[in-house]
Amino acid sequence: MKLARRTFVVGGAHSPFIGKHHPDFVWKKHPDFGKRENPTLQEHLFTAARGALEATGADDGSAIDKAYVGNHVGELFTGQAHLGALLAGAAPGLALKPIMRVEGACASGGLATVCALDAIGAGADLCLVVGAEMQTTVSARQGAEYLASAAHFATQRAIDEFTFPALFARRAARVKAETDLTEADLDRVILKAYANGNKNPLAHMHAVKLDPATMADSPRFLGNPELQPHLRMADCSQVSDGGSAIVLASEEGLKKLGKSPADAVELLAYGHAAAPLEGDPADMLAMSTSAAAAKSAYESAGVGPEDVRVAEVHDCFSIAEVLMYEAVGFAERGGAAKIIREGATELGGRIPVNTGGGLMSFGHPVGATGVKQILEVTRQMRGECGDYQLPERPAVGLTANMGGDDRTAVVTILRRG
Ligand code: CAA
Repeated sequence: MKLARRTFVVGGAHSPFIGKHHPDFVWKKHPDFGKRENPTLQEHLFTAARGALEATGADDGSAIDKAYVGNHVGELFTGQAHLGALLAGAAPGLALKPIMRVEGACASGGLATVCALDAIGAGADLCLVVGAEMQTTVSARQGAEYLASAAHFATQRAIDEFTFPALFARRAARVKAETDLTEADLDRVILKAYANGNKNPLAHMHAVKLDPATMADSPRFLGNPELQPHLRMADCSQVSDGGSAIVLASEEGLKKLGKSPADAVELLAYGHAAAPLEGDPADMLAMSTSAAAAKSAYESAGVGPEDVRVAEVHDCFSIAEVLMYEAVGFAERGGAAKIIREGATELGGRIPVNTGGGLMSFGHPVGATGVKQILEVTRQMRGECGDYQLPERPAVGLTANMGGDDRTAVVTILRRG
């Protein structure tokens, strides 16, 4: 979609992403077990929202015209729904503002951003977008049932108790069988994610070092015997709690905050596509919905994949990152292995992807992810990424957020101010 008015990312904030394997995360084997609690969904939502308001000079929120919350299944993991009204309590100036929650599985954050972009096109000057999810309230196995609501539950839940890992194991099996992609290529994508996360203090897996020599030993935990060989724990994104928030502004909105376009990152265009939820993907070897969203975003922005210098793509599993390289045009169909072997998507490469660790290492608090991606590209463009900052601040960036097995996709294109 071409935007009706120029729109800018003014700034934002993340709450620290947390879950099992994070040193601060309290679980039954943690020394603080019984002494303190992990942050709640409300705390992640409020921390991110307040951080974004403070970082952009929007302070108590009274300048915000509209706000949107991206969240997938808050009511299942925490009992809490009605998150638009919850957010109204994050800052005094947000009370009585028009705020709503938006749901689109793991693309909820991307969709919340789309709503804000449309609102700015329709006349709003300042929008707050917050994504948040809490998933550590239950075991990973129970959580897998809740997350299976992002698939066609009636027909796909039974593929495995870990429904989504199994759906992507199925893709990995087909891609490995029908292209030259190998498990060693997937290892390189995973090792990149963890190496980047090791440089990012906000990453869920910041403290976890992966040993290249032991990748093959990572547990193959699926119960489905046909799919079990094709997915390891190391291939998976994390069960994370977290929140991310951004403030979007029109040119008038920037003025209200005392800022100019040079202070911000311009969001040039977005693409949004949805494919029927029921049934197998149209093409098991491609992310066709994400590709459609990317095509629309590029055409509207007037840029192409060759212009992109940094990207955040949806790596819910290592195979998803690989297929995303092709969906957004960084590689041709079947050509992702080549760019992986060249190191093109690593921090020192031609198109660094998921520089803070992606969903596999930075973490995947589902509803937050699409918002987090936009903030990460913004931070790279502004030189705010600390140890994982790219040496040259990228001029053009892309985000690709996906829900279900590639059934809802949101792609954005950003340009440095
Ligand atoms: N050997 C064999 N099996 C083992 C094992 C070992 N050493 N260790 C564990 N397992 C098995 C066990 O069966 C265990 O389950 P139970 O304890 O219930 O029997 C299972 O693996 C999981 O083990 P843990 O609970 O100890 O693992 P964990 O808490 O560290 O979680 C994970 C690991 C299961 C991979 C978890 O991180 C996970 O589920 N990740 C994926 C999250 C996900 O699917 N997110 C959504 C992505 S899809 C998307 O983005 C689109 C959308 O719209 C949803």
